[in-house]
Order: sequence, then structure tokens, then C-alpha cells
Amino acid sequence: MEDFAQRLIAWQRRHGRHDLPWQQDRDPYRIWISEVMLQQTQVDTVIPYYRRFLARLPDVAALAAAPLDEVLALWSGLGYYARARHLHAAARRIVNEHGGRFPRDFAAIAALPGVGRSTAAAIAVFAFGERQAILDGNVRRVLCRVFGIEGWPGEPAVTARLWRLAESLLPQQDLPAYTQGLMDLGALICTRARPRCDLCPMTECVAHNTGRQNELPTPRPRRNLPERHKAVLLLHAGEILLERRAPTGVWGGLWSLPECEVGADPVEAALALGCRAERVEGLPRLTHGFTHFRLVMQPWLVHVGRPTRVAEADGRLWLPVEAALGAALPTPVRRLLASLAPEAGRP
Ligand code: ADE
Repeated sequence: MEDFAQRLIAWQRRHGRHDLPWQQDRDPYRIWISEVMLQQTQVDTVIPYYRRFLARLPDVAALAAAPLDEVLALWSGLGYYARARHLHAAARRIVNEHGGRFPRDFAAIAALPGVGRSTAAAIAVFAFGERQAILDGNVRRVLCRVFGIEGWPGEPAVTARLWRLAESLLPQQDLPAYTQGLMDLGALICTRARPRCDLCPMTECVAHNTGRQNELPTPRPRRNLPERHKAVLLLHAGEILLERRAPTGVWGGLWSLPECEVGADPVEAALALGCRAERVEGLPRLTHGFTHFRLVMQPWLVHVGRPTRVAEADGRLWLPVEAALGAALPTPVRRLLASLAPEAGRP
């Protein structure tokens, strides 16, 4: 399709998004934060987090100077917390290695922790008007459908082919409108389910013209994810006992709940933490999908007399439920605590 870029730019100008909070200036710091938040999270969810993050940490210096815990708390609920840890590390690197100025050079941007090739390209385009190709999940879907690319895009050979295609399509100018157009087309028209082909400017789309919108992109070959089962203890004494997780691994550095084996007696497990159970309730199980496994959590609500100092050893903290909801919590733990919130007010 010869005029893919020109059609996309014209469509973006008329029908694309122009009022997103990160489109208001070309400050690379603000664009960087937005692009990292948007890596795995949708625009509507990102906007309030973005505003809060920028209000509290308006520039690289503020982010570099902030304690990691504060960055994680601002991130809490967005998921994929490695993104927040990488942002923090990258800000410190920008201060130490780039004199506090966001790097302009594409290779230097791509070398920042948590910034892959596509994110670096988006920053370089939006902040500096450079000519670089993006290829995030939405763009892969658009290209696979419009150009009829077969094979799961996660396959290295398919990925490489898509990068070559993305680069070959770049216009000579108007890179920001073109790049935003790709993102907008993927988010608004060429959606995963029920795409709005009637509104799409790419009338020569292979998927549309062969009725294969639901088959392209080729889905990941199926495999059943293993399940991991855990029991978690909601030790409730008016306040809730939180436990800080190890800095690396799943939910690294976040505040979570004490865990025990699924078959273990929650009364004994509470006792091991120095808490005498008065009453135990089994709450409904929760599941949470990770890339490589499904976590199935059995929550035990264990009413204990009063907070004990014994339990408040290193990395543990009693907090009222409302205050705990302000900490950097994994999403399922947040959901669990939120379901208890009315109870927090009870005598
Ligand atoms: N997804 C990734 N980057 C984006 C951006 N700048 N605007 C809208 N959606 C996006």
C-alpha cells in the first residue's frame, strides 16, 4: 500500500486524539513517563495516574530524589511494578550520567532501564521529532491485519519482519502525527475484538478484504499456564498486618500480606507470627494472571485480639485498612483490602 503513511496522517489529523495530557508539550520527561505507563496499560486508566505522578514528581530531578517507596506508591494499581523501579533507576542515571538532562540521542534513550526500542522511538518522535519506527502491541495488530502478516508476532522471525515493515512505512516528515495515528488507529479502530472496519482509512486491508480480522494477528500457540496456590493471612486487629516483599521477583518491593501454604492451619500460621486467632473466616479465592503462571490465592481473615509487637518485626507493619490502601500494594491484595474497608470502620 503506497500511501499508507499519508492516509494515516490525514486520518489522524481529522479523527485521532489531540487532547491527551501528554500531548500538550514536548517535554521529554513527561513523554517518557506517559510512554512507560502506556506500555501495558490503557489510556483511560493511565490518565489519573499520570496526572498524580507528574503533580508530585514534575521533573527528572524530583523523580531521582524521591524514595523508591513513594514512586511505587504512586504506581500502585497500575501493575507491572518493574516499570516504576526502572523509571526510578533511569532518573538516577540521567542525573549521574547525563547531567540531569534527558538524553536526546536515540541510542542513549533506548539504553535507559525499562525503555525498549519502541518506547525509545515514541519518545524520540514525540519529544524530538526524530524519524524512528514504533512497534507496540497495537501497531503489530494493525500491521498484521493491513498487510496480512502470518505467524505469531512473538516469534522472533515475525517480529523482525514487522520491524522491517514498520521502518519501510515511515514518512519523510510529520512523524509525530504519523506515530500518533498508528497508536490511535490501533486503539480506536483496529481493536482486538470487533474492529470498526467501517471507519478505517485502510480500505486495502488484507484482513478486512478476506474477512480474517479475528484470525490476524495469529494468536500465541496455546499452552496451559501452571497454577501456583498460596494462602494469605489478613491478620485483623482493627489494623491489618502488611509484609514487605523481597526487592526482586514477583511484586518485588511491594507491601503484601503474610503467606502460608494452602494446606496449613491459619491459626497456627498466625501463632507463628505471634498473633492469637480469635476467629477465622475463609474469604473467596482470588486468581491473578502473570505471564508464566496463574496465582490462586486463598485469603484467611484471622481476627486477632490486638496488634502485637512480635509480628511487627523487620519488613512488617500494622496499618489501618484505609492507610494500607495508600501503600504500594499488588492489585489483588488491594482488591482484597478494599473489600474489607467497610469492616475497618467497625469497632
Ligand atoms: N500508547 C502508547 N503511547 C501512546 C500515546 N502517546 N498516546 C496514546 N496511546 C499510546
